Amino acid sequence: MPQPIARRPRRARTIRAAILIALGTEVVGAQTPRARAISGSPTDTAIVSRRAARIADSLLALMTLEEKLGQITQAPAGYGQTGPTVDAGGERDVRAGRVGSFLSLYGADVTRKMQRIAVEESRLHIPLVFGYDVIHGMRTIFPVPLAEAASFDSAAAARSARIAAVEGSAMGVHWTFAPMVDIARDARWGRIVEGSGEDPYLGGVMAVARVRGFQGDALRSPTSLLATVKHFAAYGAAEAGRDYNVASIGERQMWEVYLPPFEAAVRAGAGSLMASFNEIDGTPAHASHWLLTDVLRDRWKFAGLVVSDWTGVWELLSHFESRDSSAIARRALGAGVDMEMSSALYRTKLAAEVRAGRFPLSTIDEAVRRTLRIKVALGLFDDPYHGASTERERRELLAPAHRTAAREVARESIVLLTNRAVGSAPALPLRKDLRSLAVIGPLADDAKSAIGSWSGAGKPEDAVSVLAGLRRALPNARIVYARGAPVDTESTAGFAEAERAAREADAVLLVLGERGDMTGEASSRASVELPGSQLALAQAVVRAGAGKPVVGVLMNGRPLAVPWLADSTSALVESWFLGVEHGNALADVLLGEVAPSGKLPVTIPRATGQLPIYYAHKNTGRPADPNQHYTSKYLDLPWTPLFAFGHGLSYTTFAYSNLAVSAPSIRAGDPATVTVTVRNSGSRAGTEVVQLYMRHDAPSVTRPVRELRGFQRVTLQPGESKSVRFTLAPADFALYDLDMRRAVEAGTYTLWAGGSSEATLEARLTITGPTLVLAPPPPRMR
Ligand code: NOJ
Repeated sequence: MPQPIARRPRRARTIRAAILIALGTEVVGAQTPRARAISGSPTDTAIVSRRAARIADSLLALMTLEEKLGQITQAPAGYGQTGPTVDAGGERDVRAGRVGSFLSLYGADVTRKMQRIAVEESRLHIPLVFGYDVIHGMRTIFPVPLAEAASFDSAAAARSARIAAVEGSAMGVHWTFAPMVDIARDARWGRIVEGSGEDPYLGGVMAVARVRGFQGDALRSPTSLLATVKHFAAYGAAEAGRDYNVASIGERQMWEVYLPPFEAAVRAGAGSLMASFNEIDGTPAHASHWLLTDVLRDRWKFAGLVVSDWTGVWELLSHFESRDSSAIARRALGAGVDMEMSSALYRTKLAAEVRAGRFPLSTIDEAVRRTLRIKVALGLFDDPYHGASTERERRELLAPAHRTAAREVARESIVLLTNRAVGSAPALPLRKDLRSLAVIGPLADDAKSAIGSWSGAGKPEDAVSVLAGLRRALPNARIVYARGAPVDTESTAGFAEAERAAREADAVLLVLGERGDMTGEASSRASVELPGSQLALAQAVVRAGAGKPVVGVLMNGRPLAVPWLADSTSALVESWFLGVEHGNALADVLLGEVAPSGKLPVTIPRATGQLPIYYAHKNTGRPADPNQHYTSKYLDLPWTPLFAFGHGLSYTTFAYSNLAVSAPSIRAGDPATVTVTVRNSGSRAGTEVVQLYMRHDAPSVTRPVRELRGFQRVTLQPGESKSVRFTLAPADFALYDLDMRRAVEAGTYTLWAGGSSEATLEARLTITGPTLVLAPPPPRMR
């Protein structure tokens, strides 16, 4: 074990001098021409700056093989009564240079303590980098990512990521394992909650916004977090929606559906990327040279760090049913997994492999270099604490401005699915002079579920439940709460009380769905119907409340198949898990403080049997036709969804007209401008998400029936109109042709604009000229 630094002053001085020379000679984060050439993004340039390279190379020259392998090992923290901890063994490892990073270690005190050991007591004084899953907030918890995607508001997504970064960095986190950009089209998969839903375009826009929000203007800023785009790749295609399962998809689907959000995030400067647990076509992602090197490094020029998922390297043993952990470690690092999370096969196996000539030292050096460059880019060689302090924690965690922002984003994430008239008025908004309200359901007072899964350092006690939010908003009304039923067991013991509450109140809220822990990692469900006895509860309460508004409110992290609720309640509201301000934001919308404006980022099925279901499907040779037997449909269910992607009502209505293209015909390679007029045709102000869809008619390869190509949030007063303009770049018309070239083909393109993926207002555009190749074929999947 290396001796403490005090006993080796001369050697220590030499090492420090080497590092200082490397540090001192260039302006921090300066952009070099090479950096600019590699990446357009300001943060990424810090990673590939000359300074980062010089520091990394100077240190590499001083490191032993064991220290190098330690540098690319990420150790998990423990969790004790007072929060995350590291045991004495962990501290020893840091002193000995056997670990380069911790995950799930947060809190200014504990991270500063460990960092001090690293920079003052380890031989080379290399700072640690602390990673954590800061997914939708650190202490101020925002809506779960799927909910936030329903806002179709990329500025809001950037803002919530920024606030998460401010709070996370105050607590000593440098690196977040977010955004999760996996496209998910099967609601059984529990991790659908962590991403932006089913659509690659929306997914890409949200991914870029979140990367920018987390990373801020410069990684070295004390309020920045290094972003991790994950899980690379196609994790969301897990067969049968079962977590960790095989992704059975073809190369074309990979490029058309699953990779675009990753590419967008990488091009936006995401500094790190995490491999996915699944295999694709015979190769687990952690062993995929094709994904991690051919695509990521060679095609996309990614200059950041690739981290494994939790024990993802070690799990290759199971994928391959192998016992050879040395071979597995060689395979993962050789494929391009730079840093190993949680397991320690690199550290324990690879030194012997290098010494026996079975693994090239240069590959290890490159992974270490990438790790060190990240640390330089984060400014850890200048301020190893990255601005973390208990004082900042006190000032920034749950700051009033952060809660306000969380409430704003939460309001925008709520989707009004139905709203029927009860008497002469629509059920929603509820009247503010309501004398009594029954709030019924197992989730109505569940603040813990409101913060969803992966809720950082969030605390249920910070969150406002639906019940608490309504009590606050309606101080003069009599609010009667009845739990009614458990979330996921069959008891009916609470039904009578719930029915009584419904009979006695002026209006009824029925809060149903899933607990926060019923989506997320390892939380797939075989059925996406309402669990337990909740449907029976709803039926009893709707009967008891006949004649008055009975409003269904869903809390969930996946689309739920709720056809009965959709048909039988007076109104149905999708509230997801909205974070600490859940109850307040929901009350704002239910009582009409703000009109709902969210739109579905996922299709809602009628039943589990329709999964996977998504709007951008292919036409098939026999599109569904209810009057023709031999067509693509079901005998026992309509083939259409319960609610379409992009659907969401407001308290007002919007009318669309004048969909026009700048020129009816353009040449391949020209951009096009599309305009559409949207008018608030109702009687109160509201915000609409104007959506633009496109289809290529008669392409050389089959294409989806329509695809989202743009969206904008527009706020309009009653009677007000606005002309909304979209610019379509050549890439928006491109497809992967038969040879997998990214190309714009001549032909006609149909455009639709409206308030959902079922928009009917259409226009046509013709592209002329020879096929324009935008990019050569990507490396073949292998
Ligand atoms: C496993 C998850 O798949 C991943 O998303 C997460 O970042 C790591 N665990 C670390 O917590």
